[in-house]
Amino acid sequence: MSESLPTNLQGRRILLGISGGIAAYKAAELVRGLRKGGAEVRVVMTEAAIEFVTPMTLQALSGNPVRVGLFDPAHEAVMGHIELARWAELVVVAPASADFLARLHAGMANDLLTTLCLATTAPIVVAPAMNRQMWQAAVTQQNVVGLRGRGVIVWGPAEGEQACGEVGPGRMVEPAELLAQCDSHFADGPLKGVRVTITAGPTREAVDPVRFISNHSSGKMGFAIAEAAAQMGAEVRLVAGPVALPTPAGVERIDVESAEQMLEAVLADPGEIFIACAAVADYRPAEVADKKVKKSAEEISLQLVRNPDILATVAALEGAPFTVGFAAETENLIENGRGKLQNKRLDMVAANWVGARAAGGGFNSDENALQLIWHDGEEALPRCHKHELARRLLEVVVRRFQQR
Ligand code: C5P
Repeated sequence: MSESLPTNLQGRRILLGISGGIAAYKAAELVRGLRKGGAEVRVVMTEAAIEFVTPMTLQALSGNPVRVGLFDPAHEAVMGHIELARWAELVVVAPASADFLARLHAGMANDLLTTLCLATTAPIVVAPAMNRQMWQAAVTQQNVVGLRGRGVIVWGPAEGEQACGEVGPGRMVEPAELLAQCDSHFADGPLKGVRVTITAGPTREAVDPVRFISNHSSGKMGFAIAEAAAQMGAEVRLVAGPVALPTPAGVERIDVESAEQMLEAVLADPGEIFIACAAVADYRPAEVADKKVKKSAEEISLQLVRNPDILATVAALEGAPFTVGFAAETENLIENGRGKLQNKRLDMVAANWVGARAAGGGFNSDENALQLIWHDGEEALPRCHKHELARRLLEVVVRRFQQR
């Protein structure tokens, strides 16, 4: 392991999970490195892990009692498992076996480690380690894609010679590399201390107490941006319409329903950077019936009125934040995006294809591509997972924001 000591780990609270696999012995080296870097480390092992390395070794290295079982009165009395889940600033599971990944993906809480992963709001990192066939198995790959989609960070696996004698992907990333990744996880991000407000998801415009007008926005892009911004150190407020997505770690979430509620929540603090990712309904019913509208006439009509344009309102504020709008287009992507940039007086537009040209990206998809447009420049971000896309988008936003 490198002799240069990490610098960002000082005082950080890291929960290290160890699941069953031959690479478990390498976790000892990771604990040692984390402690040398100044981190506080608490170790939780699965029943299978203690077949490979003894809790005593990890207790000595971490300086804290090692926990295995969920039902241990002595340990629970010192620090209950929910308290332990809250204590952690980062959860690292290394090695993460195929079985552990499957249980994590299924949302199981059938041992202490999976219970903690379910109960924590801290970011979860997994470092997979298994035989290459097990890694390449379709079900393992599906589990990993699903976990990534839920914000779990996956480090590795590496390729090379395996304990079973085979060669291929499945080796745990080396402890020195894991240590470096943990260290950079806590490095000051480029958005350190910057207040970022993001809108996400659809809005719902009530027709009567049981009906509403809405759209198919999943909120995935906005949530991915919120998560990436938090990881870059920003203080993130996520104003979310009705979506079924978990709140990313370290993000303040404000749930709203209608466009008017969304506007009010945004104006409470539009931030220093405002990113409007929500698919706000352009119109709402002129009147909301206070009782359920009964079925009677063959035809009825609904009068709609324009909703406030949240993005344009924020961009027109005195001392407006750096504003980024989205433009979903079915034709003339760049011209229409540029038009929106000027009409709404934005700092940047992130334009993307919807409809036939979207080729599987856009609404509800896990992937997308974006064309970024600003006054004197543009940049294309090719199609990739929305988490990766969010990070790349923010890298450009950071550059433009700093030059403003
Ligand atoms: O004008 P258009 O709806 O195409 O612009 C889309 C952009 O404007 C998106 O960033 C969306 O979040 C934002 N918007 C808004 N309030 C509205 C309508 C759109 O903030 N009422």
